[in-house]
Amino acid sequence: MQDALGYEGQHVVVTGAASGMGASTARILSELGARVTALDVKPVEAPVDAFLEVDLRDRAAIEQAASSIEGPVHSIASCAGLPGTPFSDVDTMLVNFVGARHLIELLVPKLTEGASIGVISSAGGFGWQQNLETILEFLAIEEFDEAHKWCEEHTEALMGGYLFSKQVIDAWVGWRGADLIKQGIRLNCINPGPTSTPMMPSFHAASGKELIDTAVGPIGRYSDADEQAWPLVLLNSPRMSYVSGEVLWTDGGFQGAMVTGKFSVPWAADE
Ligand SMILES: NC(=O)c1ccc[n+]([C@@H]2O[C@H](COP(=O)([O-])OP(=O)(O)OC[C@H]3O[C@@H](n4cnc5c(N)ncnc54)[C@H](O)[C@@H]3O)[C@@H](O)[C@H]2O)c1
Repeated sequence: MQDALGYEGQHVVVTGAASGMGASTARILSELGARVTALDVKPVEAPVDAFLEVDLRDRAAIEQAASSIEGPVHSIASCAGLPGTPFSDVDTMLVNFVGARHLIELLVPKLTEGASIGVISSAGGFGWQQNLETILEFLAIEEFDEAHKWCEEHTEALMGGYLFSKQVIDAWVGWRGADLIKQGIRLNCINPGPTSTPMMPSFHAASGKELIDTAVGPIGRYSDADEQAWPLVLLNSPRMSYVSGEVLWTDGGFQGAMVTGKFSVPWAADE
């Protein structure tokens, strides 16, 4: 079968394409025959068709980048992210969700019917359902500057920035995905477990390697960037046309083991 995943000739936008999972995603999509527009705050080395330097904390830069991307766009892979410490909780929220969402929403009018949006969230979003009231209050604020202000005024809710940003993404794909699918646009995310990328040393430094190791699922090891990029590429593929509003746990069995009581982790002890 030729072009099994249906990416040949498709225009795909990839954020975070300079490193880790985003770089893998951009490379795989190029190899599958897609035309890749890559965005990052750092230079991109993956073989892409266009590169736009954009800081997802900067509303004007996001708007300039979005307006310079020519439609039609068939797919968006939203991979950029910050780990929390050593970055501020508000900066982490801006990159992981507020700026990422702003870019995606600006590109929605350029998306084709049948298009897909795939976001990299995290297994750190575990337990988001227990925090739904606060998350829905935040999600209702759609404007970039107002969402930024909410983050600055609710730092106690951010859990260091990283965990709240990922809980918000897990909820957002179901909540916003319910609207987008009516336009024929699918919104989904993946929830990776610990993955060996350039971000990992920051997690180890901030939380300790022992704590991060507790989030490894029954598979008993970290994943690598390609093991996360492939599920994202599959999820965004036009072959997945009936999958919408979904959180795909790419975590080596972590979530299923947590929910069924096979093990628990200190950072989700109250969930
Ligand atoms: N590594 C893990 O263990 C792990 C686990 C679960 C989820 N994640 C998530 O996976 C995604 C990819 O992370 P990774 O592990 O490949 O890390 P990475 O650090 O290798 O890649 C992150 C990318 O985001 C870009 N970025 C950072 N700040 C930006 C900004 N202000 N504007 C634009 N781009 C910016 C970086 O330049 C980099 O290219 C992130 O959303 C991360 O939260 C990572």
